[in-house]
Amino acid sequence: MIIHSAKFVKSSPDFNQCPQTTMPEYAFIGRSNVGKSSLINMITGHKKLAKTSGTPGKTQLINHFIINESWYLVDLPGYGFAKISKKIRAEWESMISNYLLNRENLVNTFILIDARHEPQKSDLEFISWFGENELPFVLVFTKTDKLGVNRIRDNIKKYQEVLLQYWEELPVSVSSSAVNSSGKNEILGLISEMNKV
Ligand code: GTP
Ligand code: MG
Repeated sequence: MIIHSAKFVKSSPDFNQCPQTTMPEYAFIGRSNVGKSSLINMITGHKKLAKTSGTPGKTQLINHFIINESWYLVDLPGYGFAKISKKIRAEWESMISNYLLNRENLVNTFILIDARHEPQKSDLEFISWFGENELPFVLVFTKTDKLGVNRIRDNIKKYQEVLLQYWEELPVSVSSSAVNSSGKNEILGLISEMNKV
């Protein structure tokens, strides 16, 4: 798929304030600093579309971007960010769960996982929550440029072993790097297929 245009539309503090649309929408979620905003920039080829930062907690609102005037990408704030109060964490949870459970044009969520780490409790809980709520998702293992191919393969395998304890079959997964653009064609290919349905 060729990206002709990618534009920021709106930052929304909650689900009710998201753009009203029936166009298909794809969200990106995962732990703070996993590379959600960078991945959106990488797949669209627009380096400054979504704001990125070395400090976790950069993205705090629901950010909509319209692509090729016909579908949306949504950058969400990260979870598992240690330096926030219980109150803010609860607000985050209700903002995100309201969005994910109620957004009718949301076709798929890409759940990002840092390929460098062992399976993390917060990621596994989050994936289980998708399962319990029957929400479709694709896993994206990020920052693969930081590891050798063998380490990446081993880490992904460990993840899959843990997932197979809960799931009958493995979810679709992609490896990516915002540095060398690996995973770009796979992710755009998946979106292109889902746009057709
Ligand atoms: P929050 O908005 O805080 O939840 O973070 P995020 O998930 O949007 O992460 P962001 O895209 O802001 O990236 C966090 C940091 O990781 C930045 O310093 C990025 O440059 C870096 N980063 C993101 N993706 C990659 C990648 O694929 N490879 C490498 N080497 N660094 C990356
Ligand atoms: Mg971000």
